[in-house]
Amino acid sequence: MQNTSHAVMAQRHEAADSPDDFPTPPWATRALIEQVIGADEVRGLSCLEPACGRGYMARPLAEYFGTVDAADAFHYGHAPVRDFLTYPYEAKSHDWVITNPPFRLAEEFVERALGVARKGVAILARTVFLESVGRYENIFSRCPPSVFAQFSERVPMVKGRVDPKASTATGYAWFVWQLDRDATPRLAWVPPCRRGLEREGDYPSLRL
Ligand SMILES: C[S@@+](CC[C@H](N)C(=O)[O-])C[C@H]1O[C@@H](n2cnc3c(N)ncnc32)[C@H](O)[C@@H]1O
Repeated sequence: MQNTSHAVMAQRHEAADSPDDFPTPPWATRALIEQVIGADEVRGLSCLEPACGRGYMARPLAEYFGTVDAADAFHYGHAPVRDFLTYPYEAKSHDWVITNPPFRLAEEFVERALGVARKGVAILARTVFLESVGRYENIFSRCPPSVFAQFSERVPMVKGRVDPKASTATGYAWFVWQLDRDATPRLAWVPPCRRGLEREGDYPSLRL
């Protein structure tokens, strides 16, 4: 019998031209700030969320940053429509660029974000983003992340909404580049923290 477990774990089977509309549950963004970067490190700073969708990542970012600019290549009614890969953002125009990009464009997003950010870039991606010869040659060998922070818990994402009851077999990690310091890449884990970081209102479609 064919073993399909890898396919279940690593792929979402989205069409090549799909927006990859899988919003991030807000606790996973709070985990980046609270467990990886540190809230004191971003207080008062500017952040760009360039693929914000319905704002599920932009809103928790605004709890920590001084300002958060958000945009998306598709219209969700949350922010201006801008393609991150072609919109003329000025070089180093934002302190941080933080997003969960469409997986098929994640490499291009990292390269673009590294030019737009002054202090740091954080990309939420599947753990398997760490591998592949192409990404090694284009990104990791030239500009390795300062921190690779693997979620110990699963971060369930479903198409078009956030759902507290969703489950997933896919592992996720935060890939963080701290541009204002010269550091040896560090392997870290996001400890179990979902329960403590979920807030009232995080799941607006929830009918209890
Ligand atoms: C995985 S979803 C994540 C949405 C949001 N960042 C979050 O975490 O909730 C990827 C998002 O990227 C957007 N997107 C796809 N291609 C894009 C592009 N070239 N420029 C900007 N946004 C894009 C999609 O519309 C979608 O909202």
